[in-house]
Amino acid sequence: MDKFVVKGGKKLNGTVSISGAKNATLALMPATLLASGKYELYNTPELRDVVTMSKLLQTMGVTFERKGKTLEVNTFRVNKFEAPYEHVKKMRASIYVLGPLLARYGQAKVSLPGGCAWGPRPVDLHIEGMKKLGAKIELVRGYIHAKAKRLKGARIAFNISSVGATGNILMAAVLAKGMTRLENAAMEPEITNLVEMLIAMGAKIEGIGTTTLEIEGVEELHPANVETIPDRIEAGTMLIAGAMCGGTIRIENVIPEHFSSVTARLEDAGVKLAFSKTSIEVTAPKSIKPVDITTAVYPGFPTDMQAQWISLMTIAKGTSTVTDTIYHDRFAHVPEIARLGANIEMKDNAAIIRGVKKLSGTKVMSTDLRASAALILAALKAEGETEVLRVYHLDRGYETIEKKLSSLGASITRVAGEEF
Ligand code: EPZ
Repeated sequence: MDKFVVKGGKKLNGTVSISGAKNATLALMPATLLASGKYELYNTPELRDVVTMSKLLQTMGVTFERKGKTLEVNTFRVNKFEAPYEHVKKMRASIYVLGPLLARYGQAKVSLPGGCAWGPRPVDLHIEGMKKLGAKIELVRGYIHAKAKRLKGARIAFNISSVGATGNILMAAVLAKGMTRLENAAMEPEITNLVEMLIAMGAKIEGIGTTTLEIEGVEELHPANVETIPDRIEAGTMLIAGAMCGGTIRIENVIPEHFSSVTARLEDAGVKLAFSKTSIEVTAPKSIKPVDITTAVYPGFPTDMQAQWISLMTIAKGTSTVTDTIYHDRFAHVPEIARLGANIEMKDNAAIIRGVKKLSGTKVMSTDLRASAALILAALKAEGETEVLRVYHLDRGYETIEKKLSSLGASITRVAGEEF
């Protein structure tokens, strides 16, 4: 397994281009199951999770060809309707095939996802929603067995806002008979990107960008080409790198309003930001002010930025509290960041961070995707050398992060292979 060796304390300067959004791509790819034909998905990031999703869809008969940032998809020969455990255990988003397979082929056999580094992540909302649309669902030996002659529209009021369940049910409802009304639906930009693709494919969906979506089922859909939105989490991560490591960096190909909760908190922390329509320039302040955050559904502060924010707060002038209301135990990164000299105390689903004057490099281990990003940020700031182990977690969601950071002046090298 690869590791990164980081020599901290370098000032970052320069410009970096942000890649397409992982969490949009992972919904847009299975949406191609809804209509046979050829699709072009523009600005598709080259990530481990995208490879995992394409391998899963290939087992169903979908073929892919990558042409630079465009992923060409061909769904003429879909002939299998199963998502085996081998794929699902690697990536929870594999469950996104359930909705489209049920809607288009009337059947699906999808493994239940395992847990992840920070505990169980249920799929009950996905299953309940499919049942409300008329699917027959059986859970047998770790698999969801789903059947439906023709899904029927229904009113589904989610008791909690779920990105995945919203996307999955949306992809089922677009071919159901009649009207479906989703209440308390997720309105993350990645879901809006999926809605745009479905509408381009001929779906009838009202309420885009709100928490109430009305879907009028149609008889069939047709292929469409779609542009993946920029990755707001990669963008926020890079802004924090700039805020921590001094100098001025500019991130390009972003949609600032997709992560205004993050930029607003950065400005509260004393970080200077300069905005254009598609770029943001960040200049590190003399010192970072402590700023409490509590994660929330969009447009609140994203849970996927929680770990990175903790890294920033480790060097703030004062004490701050970071609370995660989405995933109460998403704090596996805290003990690892503490190894770098941070002063963090856990209280239930909140981290209390007392800022320290400096961090010092040592060996740390990645536990999950965003935890790895937080460790890289802290390592960039820490004095001396840090080894971040098991960076395959990072490769899931950050396209060539070491190349991007090196181009800004960071000293970060990937050491391949050894068992750590
Ligand atoms: C998506 O996961 C993202 N992944 C996650 O990003 C992100 O952290 C999460 O949304 C929240 O924003 C993708 O889009 C591929 P949820 P998802 O359903 O859809 C509970 C990353 O780092 N819940 O919105 O799985 C759940 O336990 C990843 O890129 C149920 O109880 O998240 C959580 O507490 C990590 N039952 C809350 O809802 C369900 O059936 C929100 O989860 C589904 C979810």
